[in-house]
Amino acid sequence: MAAALQTNIRPAKFPATFRALTKQSLAPCRVRCAVTSPGKKRYNITLLPGDGIGPEVISIAKNVLQQAGSLEGVEFSFREMPIGGAALDLVGVPLPEETITAAKESDAVLLGAIGGYKWDNNKKHLRPEKGLLQLRAGLKVFANLRPATVLPQLVDASTLKREVVEGVDLMVVRELTGGIYFGEPRGIKTNENGEEVGFNTEVYAAHEIDRIACVAFETARKRRGKLCSVDKANVLDASILWRKRVTALASEYPDVELSHMYVDNAAMQLVRDPKQFDTIVTNNIFGDILSDEASMITGSIGMLPSASLSDSGPGLFEPIHGSAPDIAGQDKANPLATILSAAMLLKYGLGEEKAAKRIEDAVLVALNKGFRTGDIYSAGTKLVGCKEMGEEVLKSVDSQVPASV
Ligand code: IPM
Ligand code: MG
Repeated sequence: MAAALQTNIRPAKFPATFRALTKQSLAPCRVRCAVTSPGKKRYNITLLPGDGIGPEVISIAKNVLQQAGSLEGVEFSFREMPIGGAALDLVGVPLPEETITAAKESDAVLLGAIGGYKWDNNKKHLRPEKGLLQLRAGLKVFANLRPATVLPQLVDASTLKREVVEGVDLMVVRELTGGIYFGEPRGIKTNENGEEVGFNTEVYAAHEIDRIACVAFETARKRRGKLCSVDKANVLDASILWRKRVTALASEYPDVELSHMYVDNAAMQLVRDPKQFDTIVTNNIFGDILSDEASMITGSIGMLPSASLSDSGPGLFEPIHGSAPDIAGQDKANPLATILSAAMLLKYGLGEEKAAKRIEDAVLVALNKGFRTGDIYSAGTKLVGCKEMGEEVLKSVDSQVPASV
Protein backbone atom coordinates (compact mmCIF):
# COMPACT_ATOMS: atom_id res chain seq x y z
CA MET A 1 0.00 0.00 0.00
CA ALA A 2 1.62 3.19 -1.12
CA ALA A 3 1.01 6.32 0.81
CA ALA A 4 0.55 9.51 -1.09
CA LEU A 5 -0.16 12.96 0.03
CA GLN A 6 -3.37 13.94 -1.57
CA THR A 7 -6.25 15.73 -0.05
CA ASN A 8 -9.74 16.65 -0.58
CA ILE A 9 -11.53 17.56 -3.67
CA ARG A 10 -9.29 16.83 -6.60
CA PRO A 11 -6.53 14.58 -5.36
CA ALA A 12 -4.82 14.33 -8.72
CA LYS A 13 -3.97 18.01 -8.74
CA PHE A 14 -2.36 18.09 -5.34
CA PRO A 15 1.39 18.29 -4.92
CA ALA A 16 3.11 15.24 -3.56
CA THR A 17 4.31 16.95 -0.43
CA PHE A 18 3.57 20.10 1.44
CA ARG A 19 6.26 22.41 2.64
CA ALA A 20 6.42 23.22 6.32
CA LEU A 21 4.20 26.18 6.73
CA THR A 22 6.03 28.46 9.11
CA LYS A 23 9.23 28.70 11.04
CA GLN A 24 7.41 27.41 14.12
CA SER A 25 6.69 24.46 11.86
CA LEU A 26 2.97 24.44 11.78
CA ALA A 27 2.02 20.93 10.87
CA PRO A 28 2.44 20.29 7.18
CA CYS A 29 -0.75 19.21 5.54
CA ARG A 30 -0.25 15.54 4.96
CA VAL A 31 -3.42 13.75 4.27
CA ARG A 32 -3.16 10.56 2.38
CA CYS A 33 -6.02 9.69 0.18
CA ALA A 34 -4.70 8.13 -2.93
CA VAL A 35 -2.74 5.04 -3.71
CA THR A 36 0.10 6.07 -5.95
CA SER A 37 1.47 2.96 -7.58
CA PRO A 38 0.35 3.66 -11.14
CA GLY A 39 -0.01 0.02 -12.16
CA LYS A 40 -1.89 -1.03 -9.10
CA LYS A 41 -5.48 -1.79 -9.80
CA ARG A 42 -6.26 -4.21 -7.02
CA TYR A 43 -7.38 -2.99 -3.68
CA ASN A 44 -8.23 -4.61 -0.38
CA ILE A 45 -11.34 -3.16 1.15
CA THR A 46 -12.49 -3.83 4.68
CA LEU A 47 -16.27 -3.82 4.94
CA LEU A 48 -17.78 -3.07 8.34
CA PRO A 49 -21.55 -3.54 7.98
CA GLY A 50 -22.24 -2.98 11.69
CA ASP A 51 -25.79 -2.78 12.98
CA GLY A 52 -29.35 -1.88 12.05
CA ILE A 53 -29.60 -0.89 8.40
CA GLY A 54 -25.78 -1.13 8.08
CA PRO A 55 -25.67 -4.64 6.54
CA GLU A 56 -28.42 -3.78 4.00
CA VAL A 57 -26.75 -0.64 2.72
CA ILE A 58 -23.25 -2.13 2.74
CA SER A 59 -24.20 -5.13 0.64
CA ILE A 60 -25.64 -2.78 -1.99
CA ALA A 61 -22.67 -0.40 -1.90
CA LYS A 62 -20.32 -3.36 -2.26
CA ASN A 63 -22.04 -4.45 -5.49
CA VAL A 64 -21.98 -0.92 -6.85
CA LEU A 65 -18.30 -0.55 -5.97
CA GLN A 66 -17.45 -3.84 -7.62
CA GLN A 67 -19.37 -2.97 -10.77
CA ALA A 68 -17.95 0.54 -11.13
CA GLY A 69 -14.46 -0.81 -10.49
CA SER A 70 -14.72 -3.62 -13.02
CA LEU A 71 -15.81 -1.17 -15.72
CA GLU A 72 -12.66 0.86 -15.01
CA GLY A 73 -10.28 -2.08 -14.70
CA VAL A 74 -10.14 -1.96 -10.92
CA GLU A 75 -10.52 -5.08 -8.82
CA PHE A 76 -11.40 -5.33 -5.17
CA SER A 77 -11.02 -8.00 -2.61
CA PHE A 78 -13.42 -7.49 0.26
CA ARG A 79 -13.07 -8.60 3.82
CA GLU A 80 -16.10 -8.27 6.05
CA MET A 81 -15.44 -7.73 9.76
CA PRO A 82 -17.66 -7.13 12.81
CA ILE A 83 -17.94 -3.83 14.64
CA GLY A 84 -20.37 -2.20 17.07
CA GLY A 85 -23.30 -4.19 18.42
CA ALA A 86 -22.65 -7.04 16.00
CA ALA A 87 -19.13 -7.40 17.43
CA LEU A 88 -20.43 -7.13 21.00
CA ASP A 89 -22.81 -10.01 20.33
CA LEU A 90 -20.10 -12.04 18.65
CA VAL A 91 -17.05 -11.53 20.84
CA GLY A 92 -18.05 -9.15 23.64
CA VAL A 93 -16.20 -6.00 22.53
CA PRO A 94 -17.31 -3.28 20.08
CA LEU A 95 -14.02 -3.23 18.15
CA PRO A 96 -12.28 -6.62 18.07
CA GLU A 97 -8.51 -6.68 17.57
CA GLU A 98 -8.98 -8.58 14.30
CA THR A 99 -11.23 -5.83 12.96
CA ILE A 100 -8.83 -2.95 13.62
CA THR A 101 -5.92 -5.02 12.31
CA ALA A 102 -7.79 -5.84 9.09
CA ALA A 103 -8.81 -2.19 8.71
CA LYS A 104 -5.23 -0.97 9.13
CA GLU A 105 -3.94 -3.50 6.61
CA SER A 106 -6.45 -2.59 3.93
CA ASP A 107 -6.46 0.19 1.34
CA ALA A 108 -9.77 1.64 2.52
CA VAL A 109 -12.57 0.92 4.96
CA LEU A 110 -16.29 1.16 4.20
CA LEU A 111 -18.57 1.27 7.24
CA GLY A 112 -22.36 0.94 7.41
CA ALA A 113 -23.68 2.11 10.77
CA ILE A 114 -23.44 1.11 14.39
CA GLY A 115 -25.75 1.07 17.41
CA GLY A 116 -29.22 -0.08 18.38
CA TYR A 117 -31.72 -0.28 21.26
CA LYS A 118 -30.33 -3.60 22.37
CA TRP A 119 -27.03 -2.13 23.52
CA ASP A 120 -28.32 1.29 24.67
CA ASN A 121 -27.94 0.46 28.34
CA ASN A 122 -24.49 -1.08 28.09
CA LYS A 123 -21.64 0.40 30.13
CA LYS A 124 -19.90 3.08 28.10
CA HIS A 125 -16.85 0.97 27.15
CA LEU A 126 -19.24 -1.68 25.87
CA ARG A 127 -21.39 0.58 23.76
CA PRO A 128 -21.32 0.17 19.96
CA GLU A 129 -20.34 3.86 19.59
CA LYS A 130 -17.14 3.14 21.49
CA GLY A 131 -16.14 0.79 18.67
CA LEU A 132 -16.53 3.56 16.11
CA LEU A 133 -14.53 6.04 18.18
CA GLN A 134 -11.79 3.46 18.71
CA LEU A 135 -11.74 2.77 14.98
CA ARG A 136 -11.37 6.47 14.14
CA ALA A 137 -8.61 6.83 16.73
CA GLY A 138 -6.91 3.59 15.63
CA LEU A 139 -6.85 4.67 11.99
CA LYS A 140 -5.88 8.22 13.04
CA VAL A 141 -8.46 9.65 10.66
CA PHE A 142 -8.46 13.19 11.99
CA ALA A 143 -10.03 14.87 8.95
CA ASN A 144 -13.69 14.20 8.35
CA LEU A 145 -15.19 15.62 5.16
CA ARG A 146 -18.96 15.86 5.15
CA PRO A 147 -20.38 17.39 1.98
CA ALA A 148 -23.96 18.66 1.95
CA THR A 149 -25.21 19.30 -1.55
CA VAL A 150 -28.78 20.02 -2.49
CA LEU A 151 -29.51 18.05 -5.65
CA PRO A 152 -31.99 19.77 -7.96
CA GLN A 153 -34.00 16.53 -8.01
CA LEU A 154 -34.48 16.70 -4.25
CA VAL A 155 -35.08 20.38 -3.59
CA ASP A 156 -38.64 19.63 -2.53
CA ALA A 157 -37.51 16.99 -0.05
CA SER A 158 -36.05 19.72 2.15
CA THR A 159 -38.15 21.13 4.95
CA LEU A 160 -36.77 24.58 4.09
CA LYS A 161 -38.10 26.82 1.34
CA ARG A 162 -36.93 26.17 -2.21
CA GLU A 163 -35.32 29.61 -2.55
CA VAL A 164 -33.29 29.02 0.63
CA VAL A 165 -31.94 25.59 -0.31
CA GLU A 166 -31.68 25.61 -4.09
CA GLY A 167 -28.00 25.51 -5.04
CA VAL A 168 -26.61 24.79 -1.56
CA ASP A 169 -23.22 23.11 -1.87
CA LEU A 170 -21.14 23.12 1.27
CA MET A 171 -18.52 21.00 2.94
CA VAL A 172 -18.12 20.54 6.67
CA VAL A 173 -14.54 19.68 7.59
CA ARG A 174 -14.85 18.18 11.05
CA GLU A 175 -11.91 17.42 13.33
CA LEU A 176 -12.49 13.78 14.22
CA THR A 177 -9.95 12.39 16.64
CA GLY A 178 -9.63 15.09 19.30
CA GLY A 179 -11.56 17.56 21.40
CA ILE A 180 -14.16 16.66 23.97
CA TYR A 181 -14.79 13.24 22.42
CA PHE A 182 -11.35 12.06 23.52
CA GLY A 183 -10.15 14.65 26.06
CA GLU A 184 -8.98 13.68 29.54
CA PRO A 185 -9.92 13.93 32.34
CA ARG A 186 -13.39 12.60 31.84
CA GLY A 187 -15.75 10.56 33.94
CA ILE A 188 -18.42 10.58 36.59
CA LYS A 189 -17.31 11.00 40.18
CA THR A 190 -18.79 11.93 43.52
CA ASN A 191 -17.82 15.36 44.80
CA GLU A 192 -17.18 16.52 48.36
CA ASN A 193 -20.92 17.08 48.88
CA GLY A 194 -21.62 13.49 47.96
CA GLU A 195 -23.17 14.56 44.68
CA GLU A 196 -22.43 12.85 41.38
CA VAL A 197 -20.58 15.01 38.84
CA GLY A 198 -20.11 14.18 35.16
CA PHE A 199 -17.26 15.86 33.30
CA ASN A 200 -15.40 15.90 29.98
CA THR A 201 -12.52 17.94 28.62
CA GLU A 202 -12.48 19.99 25.45
CA VAL A 203 -8.78 20.02 24.59
CA TYR A 204 -6.85 20.78 21.42
CA ALA A 205 -3.09 20.88 20.94
CA ALA A 206 -1.79 23.37 18.38
CA HIS A 207 -0.73 20.63 15.95
CA GLU A 208 -4.22 19.13 15.95
CA ILE A 209 -5.73 22.47 15.01
CA ASP A 210 -3.08 23.16 12.38
CA ARG A 211 -3.49 19.90 10.56
CA ILE A 212 -7.29 20.10 10.32
CA ALA A 213 -7.13 23.78 9.38
CA CYS A 214 -4.66 22.90 6.68
CA VAL A 215 -7.00 20.28 5.22
CA ALA A 216 -9.81 22.82 5.37
CA PHE A 217 -7.82 25.54 3.59
CA GLU A 218 -6.83 23.07 0.89
CA THR A 219 -10.43 21.94 0.57
CA ALA A 220 -11.71 25.51 0.28
CA ARG A 221 -9.03 26.29 -2.28
CA LYS A 222 -10.33 23.49 -4.50
CA ARG A 223 -13.92 24.64 -4.02
CA ARG A 224 -15.08 28.25 -4.08
CA GLY A 225 -12.25 29.68 -1.98
CA LYS A 226 -14.27 30.52 1.13
CA LEU A 227 -13.54 29.07 4.55
CA CYS A 228 -15.59 29.70 7.68
CA SER A 229 -14.02 28.53 10.94
CA VAL A 230 -16.64 27.81 13.57
CA ASP A 231 -15.79 28.00 17.26
CA LYS A 232 -16.95 29.33 20.63
CA ALA A 233 -14.01 31.67 21.21
CA ASN A 234 -16.17 34.05 23.25
CA VAL A 235 -16.33 31.41 26.01
CA LEU A 236 -13.98 28.45 25.52
CA ASP A 237 -10.20 28.55 25.88
CA ALA A 238 -9.77 25.68 23.45
CA SER A 239 -11.65 27.81 20.92
CA ILE A 240 -9.43 30.83 21.56
CA LEU A 241 -6.41 28.75 20.61
CA TRP A 242 -8.35 27.30 17.67
CA ARG A 243 -9.07 30.76 16.30
CA LYS A 244 -5.49 31.92 16.84
CA ARG A 245 -3.98 28.97 14.96
CA VAL A 246 -6.49 29.07 12.10
CA THR A 247 -5.89 32.81 11.72
CA ALA A 248 -2.12 32.28 11.67
CA LEU A 249 -2.43 29.76 8.86
CA ALA A 250 -4.50 32.10 6.72
CA SER A 251 -1.42 33.97 5.49
CA GLU A 252 -0.35 30.75 3.75
CA TYR A 253 -3.59 30.77 1.78
CA PRO A 254 -4.07 34.30 0.46
CA ASP A 255 -6.42 32.92 -2.18
CA VAL A 256 -8.83 31.65 0.49
CA GLU A 257 -11.19 34.09 2.18
CA LEU A 258 -11.28 33.17 5.87
CA SER A 259 -14.07 34.13 8.26
CA HIS A 260 -14.88 33.12 11.83
CA MET A 261 -18.26 32.42 13.34
CA TYR A 262 -19.47 31.41 16.79
CA VAL A 263 -21.16 28.05 16.72
CA ASP A 264 -24.54 29.27 17.95
CA ASN A 265 -24.64 31.83 15.17
CA ALA A 266 -23.45 29.23 12.64
CA ALA A 267 -26.30 26.91 13.62
CA MET A 268 -28.71 29.77 13.03
CA GLN A 269 -27.10 30.93 9.77
CA LEU A 270 -27.20 27.40 8.37
CA VAL A 271 -30.98 27.40 8.33
CA ARG A 272 -31.34 31.13 7.60
CA ASP A 273 -29.06 31.32 4.57
CA PRO A 274 -27.06 28.14 3.94
CA LYS A 275 -25.82 29.40 0.58
CA GLN A 276 -23.44 31.80 2.33
CA PHE A 277 -21.24 28.80 3.23
CA ASP A 278 -18.66 27.07 1.08
CA THR A 279 -16.28 25.22 3.41
CA ILE A 280 -16.76 25.08 7.18
CA VAL A 281 -14.02 23.89 9.53
CA THR A 282 -14.79 23.07 13.12
CA ASN A 283 -13.99 20.86 16.08
CA ASN A 284 -15.25 17.37 16.74
CA ILE A 285 -18.44 18.09 18.66
CA PHE A 286 -19.52 21.21 16.76
CA GLY A 287 -18.89 19.29 13.54
CA ASP A 288 -21.05 16.42 14.73
CA ILE A 289 -23.96 18.76 15.39
CA LEU A 290 -23.58 21.10 12.42
CA SER A 291 -23.18 18.27 9.91
CA ASP A 292 -26.48 16.75 11.00
CA GLU A 293 -28.07 20.15 10.64
CA ALA A 294 -26.49 20.67 7.23
CA SER A 295 -27.70 17.27 6.10
CA MET A 296 -31.33 18.16 6.72
CA ILE A 297 -31.00 21.20 4.49
CA THR A 298 -30.51 18.72 1.67
CA GLY A 299 -33.74 16.88 2.44
CA SER A 300 -32.50 13.72 4.07
CA ILE A 301 -29.64 12.52 6.16
CA GLY A 302 -30.05 9.34 4.10
CA MET A 303 -28.28 11.02 1.18
CA LEU A 304 -25.03 12.16 2.71
CA PRO A 305 -21.68 10.38 2.59
CA SER A 306 -18.48 11.13 4.45
CA ALA A 307 -14.76 10.55 4.18
CA SER A 308 -12.38 10.38 7.13
CA LEU A 309 -8.74 10.73 6.23
CA SER A 310 -5.44 10.30 8.00
CA ASP A 311 -2.01 11.40 6.95
CA SER A 312 -0.65 8.02 6.02
CA GLY A 313 -3.09 5.15 6.34
CA PRO A 314 -6.35 3.93 4.89
CA GLY A 315 -9.35 6.22 4.95
CA LEU A 316 -12.68 5.41 6.54
CA PHE A 317 -15.81 6.03 4.49
CA GLU A 318 -19.29 5.96 5.94
CA PRO A 319 -22.74 7.44 5.52
CA ILE A 320 -23.38 10.12 8.11
CA HIS A 321 -26.70 8.59 9.12
CA GLY A 322 -27.01 6.13 11.96
CA SER A 323 -28.23 2.55 12.16
CA ALA A 324 -31.97 3.44 12.08
CA PRO A 325 -33.03 0.40 14.12
CA ASP A 326 -36.70 1.32 13.62
CA ILE A 327 -36.52 0.42 9.92
CA ALA A 328 -33.73 -2.17 10.00
CA GLY A 329 -34.37 -5.34 8.02
CA GLN A 330 -37.49 -3.91 6.37
CA ASP A 331 -35.96 -2.93 3.02
CA LYS A 332 -36.82 0.72 3.69
CA ALA A 333 -33.38 2.27 4.13
CA ASN A 334 -31.95 4.73 1.64
CA PRO A 335 -28.71 3.16 0.36
CA LEU A 336 -27.56 6.31 -1.48
CA ALA A 337 -25.45 7.76 1.35
CA THR A 338 -23.45 4.53 1.52
CA ILE A 339 -23.24 4.27 -2.27
CA LEU A 340 -21.94 7.85 -2.36
CA SER A 341 -19.51 6.97 0.44
CA ALA A 342 -18.20 4.23 -1.84
CA ALA A 343 -17.71 6.93 -4.49
CA MET A 344 -15.76 9.02 -1.95
CA LEU A 345 -13.70 5.93 -1.16
CA LEU A 346 -12.76 5.64 -4.81
CA LYS A 347 -12.05 9.33 -5.22
CA TYR A 348 -10.35 10.32 -1.99
CA GLY A 349 -9.19 6.93 -0.76
CA LEU A 350 -7.86 5.35 -3.91
CA GLY A 351 -7.59 8.16 -6.44
CA GLU A 352 -9.89 6.22 -8.80
CA GLU A 353 -11.79 9.24 -10.01
CA LYS A 354 -13.36 7.69 -13.08
CA ALA A 355 -14.96 4.86 -11.17
CA ALA A 356 -16.12 7.38 -8.55
CA LYS A 357 -17.72 9.52 -11.23
CA ARG A 358 -19.55 6.49 -12.59
CA ILE A 359 -21.16 5.97 -9.21
CA GLU A 360 -22.03 9.64 -8.70
CA ASP A 361 -23.60 9.79 -12.16
CA ALA A 362 -25.49 6.55 -11.60
CA VAL A 363 -27.07 7.98 -8.45
CA LEU A 364 -28.20 11.04 -10.40
CA VAL A 365 -29.60 8.86 -13.19
CA ALA A 366 -31.63 6.79 -10.70
CA LEU A 367 -32.97 10.01 -9.17
CA ASN A 368 -33.66 11.50 -12.60
CA LYS A 369 -35.74 8.42 -13.39
CA GLY A 370 -37.83 9.29 -10.37
CA PHE A 371 -36.83 6.50 -7.98
CA ARG A 372 -37.09 7.50 -4.32
CA THR A 373 -36.84 5.71 -1.00
CA GLY A 374 -39.32 6.75 1.70
CA ASP A 375 -37.12 9.43 3.25
CA ILE A 376 -36.88 11.41 -0.02
CA TYR A 377 -40.25 10.52 -1.50
CA SER A 378 -42.50 13.25 -2.82
CA ALA A 379 -45.73 13.07 -4.82
CA GLY A 380 -45.20 12.05 -8.44
CA THR A 381 -42.03 10.03 -7.80
CA LYS A 382 -41.65 6.23 -7.58
CA LEU A 383 -41.38 4.85 -4.08
CA VAL A 384 -38.89 1.98 -3.92
CA GLY A 385 -37.18 -0.03 -1.22
CA CYS A 386 -33.50 -0.21 -0.42
CA LYS A 387 -32.82 -3.16 -2.75
CA GLU A 388 -34.64 -1.73 -5.74
CA MET A 389 -32.89 1.60 -5.37
CA GLY A 390 -29.60 -0.33 -5.28
CA GLU A 391 -30.53 -2.24 -8.42
CA GLU A 392 -31.43 0.96 -10.23
CA VAL A 393 -28.08 2.51 -9.37
CA LEU A 394 -26.32 -0.67 -10.42
CA LYS A 395 -28.06 -0.61 -13.81
CA SER A 396 -27.08 3.01 -14.30
CA VAL A 397 -23.43 2.34 -13.41
CA ASP A 398 -23.31 0.23 -16.57
CA SER A 399 -24.84 2.81 -18.82
CA GLN A 400 -22.59 5.39 -20.41
CA VAL A 401 -25.39 7.92 -20.51
CA PRO A 402 -24.13 11.10 -18.86
CA ALA A 403 -26.36 12.24 -16.03
CA SER A 404 -27.99 15.56 -16.60
CA VAL A 405 -28.43 17.34 -13.34
C1 IPM B 1 -21.41 10.69 13.68
C2 IPM B 1 -22.08 10.00 14.83
C3 IPM B 1 -21.03 9.53 15.82
C4 IPM B 1 -20.32 10.77 16.36
C5 IPM B 1 -21.54 8.66 16.96
C6 IPM B 1 -22.29 7.45 16.44
C7 IPM B 1 -20.45 8.23 17.89
O1 IPM B 1 -23.04 10.81 15.40
O2 IPM B 1 -20.57 10.08 13.01
O3 IPM B 1 -21.73 11.87 13.44
O4 IPM B 1 -20.78 11.39 17.31
O5 IPM B 1 -19.27 11.11 15.80
MG1 MG C 1 -23.36 12.62 14.33
